[in-house]
Amino acid sequence: MDGDATDGSSLDIAVVGAGIIGVITALGLLRAGHKVTVYEKADDYFEVGAAMSFTGVARECMERLNPCILEALQRVGEANRHPMNRYWDGFNPVSMDAAQSEESLLFEQSARELDYTGCLRSVYLREMAKSLPDGVVKFGMSLESYSEVAEGVELQFANNSTAQADAVIACDGIHSKARRLLLGDDSPASRPSFTHKVAYRAIIPIADSIAALGHDKANNQCAHMGPNAHALFFPVAQWTLSNVFIFLHDPKPWPDPHKMTLETKKSEVTSALSEWGPSIRELVRRMPEQVFKWAIFDMADHPADRYARGRVCLAGDAAHASSPFHGAGACMGVEDALVLVSVLEVALSMSKLSDLGKAEAVGAALQAYSTVRLERSQWLVQSSREMGDIYEWRYPPTGSDPAKIKAEIESRSRNLWDFDVGRMLAEAKMECEGRLKLGG
Ligand SMILES: Cc1cc2nc3c(=O)[nH]c(=O)nc-3n(C[C@H](O)[C@H](O)[C@H](O)COP(=O)(O)OP(=O)(O)OC[C@H]3O[C@@H](n4cnc5c(N)ncnc54)[C@H](O)[C@@H]3O)c2cc1C
Ligand SMILES: *[C@@H]1O[C@H](CO)[C@@H](O)[C@H](O)[C@H]1NC(C)=O
Ligand SMILES: *[C@@H]1O[C@H](CO)[C@@H](O)[C@H](O)[C@H]1NC(C)=O
Repeated sequence: MDGDATDGSSLDIAVVGAGIIGVITALGLLRAGHKVTVYEKADDYFEVGAAMSFTGVARECMERLNPCILEALQRVGEANRHPMNRYWDGFNPVSMDAAQSEESLLFEQSARELDYTGCLRSVYLREMAKSLPDGVVKFGMSLESYSEVAEGVELQFANNSTAQADAVIACDGIHSKARRLLLGDDSPASRPSFTHKVAYRAIIPIADSIAALGHDKANNQCAHMGPNAHALFFPVAQWTLSNVFIFLHDPKPWPDPHKMTLETKKSEVTSALSEWGPSIRELVRRMPEQVFKWAIFDMADHPADRYARGRVCLAGDAAHASSPFHGAGACMGVEDALVLVSVLEVALSMSKLSDLGKAEAVGAALQAYSTVRLERSQWLVQSSREMGDIYEWRYPPTGSDPAKIKAEIESRSRNLWDFDVGRMLAEAKMECEGRLKLGG
């Protein structure tokens, strides 16, 4: 047997990255009784003000991982006030009246069926982190490299310190260093690529949003569609502010993949939407002159062919970074976390029953995780890209036909929501046991 320093009833696990998925994974592992250390590059929790929402499936996974994850979401999350998620025509209406009224409604879906809970990422991250015991997260630790040794995996950090663990779960985000190490620097999947969509984001007083959109739309989340662009608005901060996202299709290459955000002039948006309806034009007029522009990158062009090698694996955006058009990128990471906790439990109990080494058991567990998660998470990345085109009337099968768009969005969304978590875990367990029997 290889080095069993502990009593063998738990594992010592290193999580790389204290983003949403790293923290959720750590909370799940701690509840399962493992020893966990999270290594985070930044000096504090990374602040991205973006809003996010979680599906019913993701919330079920949270509950199973550790109820405190879901409780934190319930404390900071907000459900939409309106019972429907509504999709509007932002382009065709000619009068302000038509733009603000039901006349410009393309279609709607029950919000209950969508079953999303929204929150601000940074607020949720801090709320969850309160449940982590002191000392679990080590800040200022940027992973540089790792190597597998007999006793486990040795991690090397940028400040030359090292650490050891039985398994490494890397949740270091879209520009993951661990992905480059695991897949090799020459693998095309080691770097994300530009989706040819850019997002402009601003926060404006809700009064400005009401002036442009009317009371009904401004007080609920609403999506506007049109040619080569789409817009998402939703109230934040207890209905005092409005979060504005304008997405534009951008056929040009993005100049610098290392710098994905920049401050820019609003005139780019004004000219791109100059032929849109009066409501959207008025909203843009009320945005600040300087706006925040965000290049959207993902892994759709070059998906990873595996999420694990040896005793190291990738989870969350590190494994399958997605564009935000399904609003479910993080949900995939939550599902990853639950599968990981479950396969590590199977591996540990099997290694206790036999003289199987810990290294073998951990390796089989992480391989099982990779096998079970690849297809679904990569479908999301692909479908999310297409959703961006569907919203922007660029997807040939649906064009600008609201009935076809509605049917397409519904069938894709079903794949996300109507998902049997119990069955995924049963498959993961079977896959893991199969590998351990084969190996041992
Ligand atoms: C505009 C937008 C809207 C979105 N909306 C939604 C939504 O509504 N619903 C949804 O489910 N998802 C949404 N997403 C996706 C979601 O934000 C991501 O999937 C999620 O944040 C990924 O979490 P993560 O923990 O995997 O990665 P990250 O949040 O990127 O965290 C990675 C962490 O690792 C750290 N790190 C990086 N490198 C190293 C290193 N070498 N060593 C140590 N630490 C390191 C980073 O500092 C960071 O703290 C959206 C994304 C965008 C861009
Ligand atoms: C880490 O070690 C390398 C090589 O010994 C050295 O060049 C570098 O300055 C060290 N970095 C820090 C932060 O100590
Ligand atoms: C590296 O940084 C961490 C976190 O700040 C610190 O605990 C550790 O002592 C540092 N190691 C070295 C060798 O400087």
